[in-house]
Amino acid sequence: MRPHIFILIYFFFFPMTKGNVRPANMERITTPALAKKFIDEQIKELRSQIGDKNVLLALSGGVDSSVVAALLIKAVGKQLVSVHVNHGLLRKGEAEQVVRVFRDEMDANLVYVDATDRFLDKLAGVADPEQKRKIIGAEFIRVFEEEARKLQGISFLAQGTIYPDIVESGPVKSHHNVGGLPDDLQFELVEPIKLLYKDEVRVVGKELGLPDNMVFRQPFPGPGLGVRCTGAITRDRLEALRESDAILREEFAKNGLEGKVWQYFTIVPDYKSTGVKNNQRSWDWPVIIRAVNTRDAMTATIEEIPYPLLHHITQRIINEVPGVNRVLYDLTPKPTGTIEWE
Ligand code: XMP
Repeated sequence: MRPHIFILIYFFFFPMTKGNVRPANMERITTPALAKKFIDEQIKELRSQIGDKNVLLALSGGVDSSVVAALLIKAVGKQLVSVHVNHGLLRKGEAEQVVRVFRDEMDANLVYVDATDRFLDKLAGVADPEQKRKIIGAEFIRVFEEEARKLQGISFLAQGTIYPDIVESGPVKSHHNVGGLPDDLQFELVEPIKLLYKDEVRVVGKELGLPDNMVFRQPFPGPGLGVRCTGAITRDRLEALRESDAILREEFAKNGLEGKVWQYFTIVPDYKSTGVKNNQRSWDWPVIIRAVNTRDAMTATIEEIPYPLLHHITQRIINEVPGVNRVLYDLTPKPTGTIEWE
């Protein structure tokens, strides 16, 4: 269904959810001046809603939760407690960047939880993609719940809900804790960017001083690298995935493809092939590159990466990433291939 028809039907059936309806006259935030106006208004509203109470936020480092964190830090400072859970499936440097930007530069009250071992132990030997997703989602809630229980005097839960989330999920989601926290741990919600579209969130994020690679970050699935380390995840293959992904991102940035290509990443499947390395027979993994363009992720086309750049990336990956002897480029559009491999 086309989005605008969906929006009309949604508002026809759910006219009562007024606070969740973007007013027809709300100006699209496209400039730094409009972003500043939005930020100033939100700071006032957040201060009056929160008063001297405390707010909790699950800070993933994605653009939505980062913008909410930055807004709340401006509005209520240390009354915001941000929890960053590292599930061990983040891209290279991401957890470090969250700590640097929020704790070091913005002086935030940040709880950093390195739960890598916990997640990887639970995932050991699990090959089914849906089972992997379920384990990652459930464990995330459990870690967040444990951290929330350690804190005293939290009244609010902040969420990076944006307008498409409300339109796509109906009226229920925005009135409940999306994360699936237990009944005895329910908070009042704070959702300062719930009427904004993604492009507006990015303009606001830039005005708030967040770094470009956070504000213009390509989409990254919740289960992270877990769905790109196909089959049962192993630590060595996960490391090869993280390193090859970092090389791809670095080369795309250097060669003007960052921001141009919608989503790009590597996959390390759970099989090996024969090769030759340093005059010896090798038995190593392939790295598969995926780089796609799309409007809505329902269909996708393949980016035509220049051959010299593909060769350069291949050379870097086979020389710099341990355990890898081949590099492949996935030429499959969606359909028939989904964007992720799992
Ligand atoms: P597919 O693979 O279905 O992906 O073509 C479409 C878009 O959705 C993202 N994706 C996910 N995002 N949790 C997420 O938050 C998931 O489990 C998940 N699976 C796929 C994918 O990265 C692409 O942008």
